Amino acid sequence: MPKLNENYLNVQDSYLFAEIARRVKVYEEAHPDKAASIIRLGIGDVTRPLTKSAIGALHEAVDEQAAAETFKGYGPEQGYEFVRRAAAEHYARAGVTVDADDVFISDGAKSDTGNITELFAKDNVILVPDPVYPVYVDTNTMDGKQIVYMNGTEENDFLPMPDDSVKADIIYLCSPNNPTGACYNREQLKAWVDYALKNEAVILFDSAYEAFISEPELPRSIYAVEGAEKCAVEFCSLSKTAGFTGTRFSYTIVPKEIAFTASNGQRMSLRDMWNRRQSTKFNGTPYIIQYAAAKVFSEEGMKECRENISYYMENARVIAETLRRKNISFTGGVNSPYIWFKCPDGMESWEFFDYLLENAQVVGTPGAGFGVNGKNYFRLTSFGTHEKTKEAMERFGKLFS
Ligand code: MLT
Repeated sequence: MPKLNENYLNVQDSYLFAEIARRVKVYEEAHPDKAASIIRLGIGDVTRPLTKSAIGALHEAVDEQAAAETFKGYGPEQGYEFVRRAAAEHYARAGVTVDADDVFISDGAKSDTGNITELFAKDNVILVPDPVYPVYVDTNTMDGKQIVYMNGTEENDFLPMPDDSVKADIIYLCSPNNPTGACYNREQLKAWVDYALKNEAVILFDSAYEAFISEPELPRSIYAVEGAEKCAVEFCSLSKTAGFTGTRFSYTIVPKEIAFTASNGQRMSLRDMWNRRQSTKFNGTPYIIQYAAAKVFSEEGMKECRENISYYMENARVIAETLRRKNISFTGGVNSPYIWFKCPDGMESWEFFDYLLENAQVVGTPGAGFGVNGKNYFRLTSFGTHEKTKEAMERFGKLFS
């Protein structure tokens, strides 16, 4: 009999968004007459089609695969040079230096933030904000690793800061934060970088929502902060930036400057370890997707993405306006596609989830799914269509005086 990884006993039976989908299905089966009117503002999945640049590039790349002269089989596990360079140039246009050689192409920030746990031993002190994207907690729990939580609350604007009494080895940060939409400023990120350097810690920085930052003084990459290249790995993705949730493309920066001394005295480079891991376990993102991603990173490609982002941010405005009218306090929606608010009438988040589904046929995400500090909070996404978002908020408005 195989001995199983019993750490799986310590994770919830299903992943947060799978659980939401399950509950919505149960509701649909019980109320077939209401199924068609359900509006989904739960999982952050995009609704705008791919941009013109991306679609054009996909067609071109598919045609290349149809001719023996241009056909591509296995590609480099790290990603094609042309797209790694395009990603680095994208950073450069934002005034941030990233070496194309440190850019690793993958199929999602979810996969990479989960897979990177393999590079670290079990007995690390791992700091994770609460509330936060559940993948960090689930993947470390599956590995049997112990997590120390840092509270994100209204008191600290949902932006936990370093605590010198805790000596962490690995720190997860997500900014703009999923789910709260709160975003660290430069001084705050600098405090984290200084803390990491002082404690010889690594920051795992998830910047999947950077393209939604509208306040120009806010950093869109941790590498905008001096010293970050010595202590931070950055995960980013085109899922939300370019609507690639179904197309799948992400990029992880593991700077060659990050290295630590092993117990035998040998220096170990995190970049080399990640390279080794990816070359063994990953055969790369499909060529046609990488080709399209390179076009997305171009100036014209990014201009088109910004048009879609403005579309979504108009939804954020509509959601925020309704909450304001109902005197419900919230964060997010300015530098993030997510809006995070306190459940009305003292409800807990799963209770509010059911209430909203039953009474307005609107699906959101219960804050408890992001950590204990989310117990009384709720997240709505602005990734719906204008029509459905407006309709959802009209229904929402009628429920509360
Ligand atoms: C979310 O809704 O939090 C995200 O869409 C989930 C993800 O990116 O995996």
